[in-house]
Amino acid sequence: MTIRSVILGTGSALPARRVDNHELATRVDTSDEWIVERTGIRFRYIAGEGETTASLAADAARAALDTAGVTPDSIDLIVLATATPDQTFPATATIVQAKLGIPDCIAFDVAAVCSGFLYALTVADNMLRAGGAKRALVIGSETFSRILDWEDRTTCVLFGDGAGAVVLEAQSVTAADGPGILASRLHADGRHNGLLYVDGGPSTTGTVGKVRMKGQDVFRHAVVNLAGVLREVIKDAGITPDDIDWVVPHQANARILDATARKLGLPPEKIVVTVDRHANTSAASVPLALDLAVRDGRVQRGDLLVLEAMGGGFTWGACLLRY
Ligand code: UT7
Repeated sequence: MTIRSVILGTGSALPARRVDNHELATRVDTSDEWIVERTGIRFRYIAGEGETTASLAADAARAALDTAGVTPDSIDLIVLATATPDQTFPATATIVQAKLGIPDCIAFDVAAVCSGFLYALTVADNMLRAGGAKRALVIGSETFSRILDWEDRTTCVLFGDGAGAVVLEAQSVTAADGPGILASRLHADGRHNGLLYVDGGPSTTGTVGKVRMKGQDVFRHAVVNLAGVLREVIKDAGITPDDIDWVVPHQANARILDATARKLGLPPEKIVVTVDRHANTSAASVPLALDLAVRDGRVQRGDLLVLEAMGGGFTWGACLLRY
């Protein structure tokens, strides 16, 4: 018998307003054709008045609690991944805690940008297995639209807003093929700060700053790092790529998804793709894609999933689990 962190339920939330590529072409020098061909993105959701990282996170968390069939007061840990917090402090996780009416729990944010959900999931998994908590909400939520330079066509067409959440519970699992997280690996290489960053912050400029990216360089590192970390978790779990039922990747660019899958010999039909409809929602993209694939019936109980992401830092990671 081993203690494993098991996903009880998933949820997600999107802003009300959906924006297509044609609308962006009225703001910057771009086209639907360029965006679709280079990225696969057709739509993104943009937060409006009253929609914030915390409000989207709370909506996603409520949906996950509902699917799990558990009440907010049974949650003793909230780990929220975001690069776009409502306030510099306190942690957005505590705002979500108050919105959900949880009187007391552990609540904190994790900052690992697009890999944030993988970092949050791994931290929560370790706390649950160590006995520090029993039932956790792990959330990825972003309002990247608020840190985009809307005059920079090389970045503003790529991102969107949204949130995804899972309820994770420590369970005693006896069967070898029982549910839960089987392996996870995280990495960071801070030397690449200049390739993907925000040009501001409380301690430097005193401003929030805007997203800056050297896209081609990030692309190259993403394919190599993601293929590497996927191989690591596959080896750690003692499986082969053929055993994987679904890859739930960070949704930055359809071409990155294709190139990474090809490197591992994973067939494209096993990849959950949402970049076309959500664009890159940073820390929210993996749990958003997972919730979508659970709700449309692709991901079934007992399936072997691998989640992966890479983002600013650079940071990257992967997690292999039986759903
Ligand atoms: O989530 C974190 C991880 N992020 C990523 O993984 C993003 C990784 N990078 C990428 O996805 C791709 O590099 C981009 C989608 C950002 C760019 O695609 P690319 O094929 O690498 O294009 P490029 O940067 O080489 O630009 C090609 C051309 C340039 O024009 P010239 O110099 O060839 O005349 C750009 O100025 O496309 C131009 N361009 C655009 N044209 C129309 C750049 N952005 C746009 C645009 N519309 N929005």
